[in-house]
Amino acid sequence: MTGVPLRWVAEDHEASCRRAARMIADAAAPVAGRDAFTLVLSGGSAPRRLFELLAEGFPAPLPWELVHVFWCDERCVPPDHPESNYGAARTLLLDHVPIPPGGVHRMRGELGPERGAEAYREELTALSPAGPPAFDLALLGLGDDGHTCSLFPGSPALGSPRAVEPARSPRGIAGRITLTPAGLAGAQRVMFLVAGEGKAEAVAQTLEGERPAGEVPARAIRPRGEVVWLLDAAAAADLSG
Ligand code: 6PG
Repeated sequence: MTGVPLRWVAEDHEASCRRAARMIADAAAPVAGRDAFTLVLSGGSAPRRLFELLAEGFPAPLPWELVHVFWCDERCVPPDHPESNYGAARTLLLDHVPIPPGGVHRMRGELGPERGAEAYREELTALSPAGPPAFDLALLGLGDDGHTCSLFPGSPALGSPRAVEPARSPRGIAGRITLTPAGLAGAQRVMFLVAGEGKAEAVAQTLEGERPAGEVPARAIRPRGEVVWLLDAAAAADLSG
């Protein structure tokens, strides 16, 4: 990681999502020699409004012909299941933009945790044989227990040298597929988008606490590039600085 995580505190989640959309559009801007923009999406509720903004082309349409979308985790359900992270992104964003079919790299939750993780590991290895993919931008969320992706407290995946592992959630759909800290280590930018007073303690534990990453998994995310936190005032309420 290049240094201290950057923090942006907005008055509400809408403002955070608009800032996130601007940052994604800036990061995706075509530059000489760019032949792809690799974007990792998270699940949960926080990114839903961001997906809508990107679908509307706010602040400007992304160069979708260059975009490759990945997921940081997936629930082990079929892609049309209401709990599918892919399904939510498809409904809110991907069905509304001209992304080529080859640009959508879905985690196949229907295969189950072990086979689904193996399949995604093989896909990422094909993309980046030399090591963890240098994702241009990875969008992550934060749970009230400090989890991110499907890396829950005590998860063995936290210490894995492999980019993708099976996981189990203590809440909701148990079977999961998740990127690991190793899988995100090559990312050029990680963006945490977090909202609500229910996350305030987890945000403070992650950014200012001393507890080990095994107890606060978001602390294990240390990419090569920068880490940016987009928070609404409620989620930032317990921060000292
Ligand atoms: C998932 C997500 C997960 C999410 C957090 C926060 O599959 O649920 O990837 O890591 O980002 O649980 O979820 P909310 O944004 O809904 O609070």
